[in-house]
Amino acid sequence: MDAPLLPLYMQLADRMARSIRAGTLKRGERLPSVRELAGQHGVSLSTAVQAYRWLEDARLIEARPRSGYFVAARPPRLPEPRVSRPDTASRMVQLDQLGVQVMALSQDPGFISFGAACPGPELFDQDRVRRAMARAVMRHRELLCTYPIGPGMEEARRAVARHALGLGCVLDPDEVVITNSCIEAISLCLRAVCKPGDVVALESPTYYGFLEILQSLHLRALEIPTHPRHGMSLDALQLAFETQQVKAVLTVPTLSNPLGACLPVPERRRLAAMLARHDVALIEDVLYNDLSEQEDKRRAVKSFDTTGHVMICGSFSKTIAPGLRLGWVEAGRWGRVLRQTKAVQSGAQTSVLELALADLLTQAGSGAALRHLRATIAARVDEARQLIAESFPKGTRVSDPAGGFILWVELPEALDSAQLYEACLAEHIVIAPGMMFSASPRFRNCVRLGVGGKWGPEHPRALRRIGALAKQLLMSPPDELAA
Ligand SMILES: Cc1ncc(COP(=O)(O)O)c(C=O)c1O
Repeated sequence: MDAPLLPLYMQLADRMARSIRAGTLKRGERLPSVRELAGQHGVSLSTAVQAYRWLEDARLIEARPRSGYFVAARPPRLPEPRVSRPDTASRMVQLDQLGVQVMALSQDPGFISFGAACPGPELFDQDRVRRAMARAVMRHRELLCTYPIGPGMEEARRAVARHALGLGCVLDPDEVVITNSCIEAISLCLRAVCKPGDVVALESPTYYGFLEILQSLHLRALEIPTHPRHGMSLDALQLAFETQQVKAVLTVPTLSNPLGACLPVPERRRLAAMLARHDVALIEDVLYNDLSEQEDKRRAVKSFDTTGHVMICGSFSKTIAPGLRLGWVEAGRWGRVLRQTKAVQSGAQTSVLELALADLLTQAGSGAALRHLRATIAARVDEARQLIAESFPKGTRVSDPAGGFILWVELPEALDSAQLYEACLAEHIVIAPGMMFSASPRFRNCVRLGVGGKWGPEHPRALRRIGALAKQLLMSPPDELAA
């Protein structure tokens, strides 16, 4: 149903890219000639050429003179970041202005930005979004002049419940609340469950926006050791449950920000059981689940919840259109109180936007748009990892996320990412220093690089430049660099 919307060459390239990443097509393996490829897949020669070009641009294959096409040698592998070892005590969050500055500069066209965690507008299917908006406005002419009330338009709540089936969850549309963002959904969950001074467990490092919410609600952050690929340590979380009063766990089990970690599926089942046993709320952020390259990791912890302890939150900012500003939540046993808080806090959203979203989620084409997005950003991430391996200082470690567009880079201990940030700013490059992602002063030698934004020839150059500046900083005393 979806396939015709993706150009034929992209469908072919996408299939081959997935076979290369899965190892079915081995690195260094010879590929069919263009003519053979066209014959095997029943496509024209020009489609086969376009597919190979796309894979070449993505550095997944290479053409060797007079020999044909080969699967590219794997980019030099850097080790992955170490498992984090945060304090075992919780603490109040006190953020400085760094995060606010990084986010503001990331939007500034005068800067080459790796600061934000969002795909650029050109990666979304803008025509589809525009058409859905136009249809909603034209078909429901009176709606813009009608006061919206309640938890969201029924069409949108049904569409979200249908979307959640893809995450393994059977949700009652009457229990779904449409919000103005994932961040609002999470904030409502925390307000429903916690009071000031309560302890909330999170991954370490964690998403900067979560720390901002905890600060604004006067909640204590308890950072839990986190593996760069497998996510939060449930053994450490269990210990925290046994030794202190944890009120809620706020986690991104699929493609956490900034690590890109994915909790293994058996651990998701275990987590749901742990919460029920200890009577603790889990606020699960599923914003990135659709970007996972591993289908099983799209399954939400909520799908294992039999007691209503999981509050699931999402939005379409990273997959359909960040400008829609719509999110959703199903708050399990806290549903009634959450609906009340939402009504008092911000009322309902713009109804025509909700109808456009319902349209976008249910019309043909959403699967194709997502596959296109996943393939494009996967190629981008490969390219960025390669550039980092080639140009960052010896001893650098980098994450290898199975989807998404965020890289977490751990530089040698002696590197101060605050200095690297300043040195980059002086060259109009924005990065997100590691300290932004913890409530305590850690990750000073780390940076988060978002590679989903605008991408031109200046971006690979800028990545190399960041590596060169890091090397320079490691060699020279700070005042020498400023001179
Ligand atoms: C883990 C996570 N949750 C939520 C958000 C924000 O989502 P929204 O735009 O829907 O508020 C982000 C954005 O970077 C994120 O990384």
